[in-house]
Amino acid sequence: DMNEPVEKYRPIYHFTPKQGWMNDPNGMVYLNGNYHLFFQHNPEKSVWGPMHWGHAISRDLIHWDEQKIALYPDSLGTIFSGSAVIDKNNTAGFGKGAMVAIFTHHNHQEEDRKTGLHQNQSLAYSLDQGATWTKYKGNPVLPNPGIWDFRDPKVMWFEKSKSWIMTLATKDCITFYSSKDLKEWKKESEFGKEVGAHGGVWECPDLIPMKYNGETKWVLLVSINPGGPNGGSVTQYFVGDFDGHQFQPADTSVKWLDWGPDNYAGVTWSNLGERHLMIGWMSNWQYANVVPTTRWRSSSTIPRELTLQKVDQKYYVSSTAAPEVAKAFQSVKKYQANQSKELTVQEQLPQAFRLEINKLKVQNFKLILSNAVGNELVVGYDKGQDAYYIDRSKSGEIAFNADFPKRSIAGRLSNSETLSLSLYIDVSSVELFADNGLTAMTSLFFPEEPMTRIRIVGDNNLIFRDVNIATFRDK
Ligand code: FRU
Repeated sequence: DMNEPVEKYRPIYHFTPKQGWMNDPNGMVYLNGNYHLFFQHNPEKSVWGPMHWGHAISRDLIHWDEQKIALYPDSLGTIFSGSAVIDKNNTAGFGKGAMVAIFTHHNHQEEDRKTGLHQNQSLAYSLDQGATWTKYKGNPVLPNPGIWDFRDPKVMWFEKSKSWIMTLATKDCITFYSSKDLKEWKKESEFGKEVGAHGGVWECPDLIPMKYNGETKWVLLVSINPGGPNGGSVTQYFVGDFDGHQFQPADTSVKWLDWGPDNYAGVTWSNLGERHLMIGWMSNWQYANVVPTTRWRSSSTIPRELTLQKVDQKYYVSSTAAPEVAKAFQSVKKYQANQSKELTVQEQLPQAFRLEINKLKVQNFKLILSNAVGNELVVGYDKGQDAYYIDRSKSGEIAFNADFPKRSIAGRLSNSETLSLSLYIDVSSVELFADNGLTAMTSLFFPEEPMTRIRIVGDNNLIFRDVNIATFRDK
């Protein structure tokens, strides 16, 4: 029964490795109906260690089939984050339509650590749709020029110049490289030393062409750790222009893709045309290694669709659940209009469900998810601060790390007179998409017993169009 977790805290419709550790999603690429997801993986232990690329495939973005490990550590190092492309024109000479992974070789040898040249970019390819992999003999293809943090290549095809563009995290900025064959890389430019958030090292970038009213803008995602608005790991982004050489932001304000504590290192699928589908790692380096799961550690976020929006002349990226995920939920209860300050959801809730609040007049309110032993997770909106929040300080197991029990806040960007929220809950996580995803927040929580009740409380009568509960229906 896919509606019951198989182990305590194991999510139902999110991807988790069967066993061992997972962090960043890697090499996401779409091919022949399959969504490939590779991931930072330590198969031996449920803590970070020598990195491999694990592999999973989904056809519907809900069910994930874990495959055998794609990339193992070798004499050049362990396998850090990176991306994958389909080489349709055989530019690299591995074969027409080869799936090519571009990743960071992280060398754990003491000598390399001393020189600081311990991170280099390398290639591997698969001629059987990701089933088996061969590392390129000429690795590394982009050797370290002397920068301690030099990693997480995200590669895309840039049609105008018929070249590959690599977006690379280089300590406190992004460096763009170009190549005709994936093997020889030329430095184009650097971006970001003077703009954006710099509370920590820059990691896991992505460069994405997105359309707004028919015009193409370029979105640059950059994960930073630490330095998030609520502490620890977080993803920021810039919107601007890219001409094949340089990235120019349209404005330099700091923007967060997701304000919650638990969405990191997210990047988008390649080979998906104009669709921008993202998945993130649903944890935070502050406590990822000690969350109270044992056989496995960490889950991915749900696949999310990214779109470009404009508010007060500025561009923003909004995140919503991928339609494939949204349609896996079936409405079981709808509340219309309400004449009081409180709405109690009567249902005995399952552990995987979605709750939507549609067109609630802007006002203070909180939604309290609770269980029989008094654990509470609170999601709300504070009008004075014009901010959403998630408070997990009384949500169950919290003592494993001092940074975990907290109230996280997220600025509201929308000017609309009503609030609309969509909450995806899955055993031990909540993903909040507010105002059509203009503000997103992701948070883990570890209740001692399943959360089964919901109350929504306002300090005035709650005026809304409807509140909808939908349960996850496995097909
Ligand atoms: C981000 C990160 C990446 C690196 C990987 C190592 O979470 O630190 O920069 O490639 O994890 O597992």
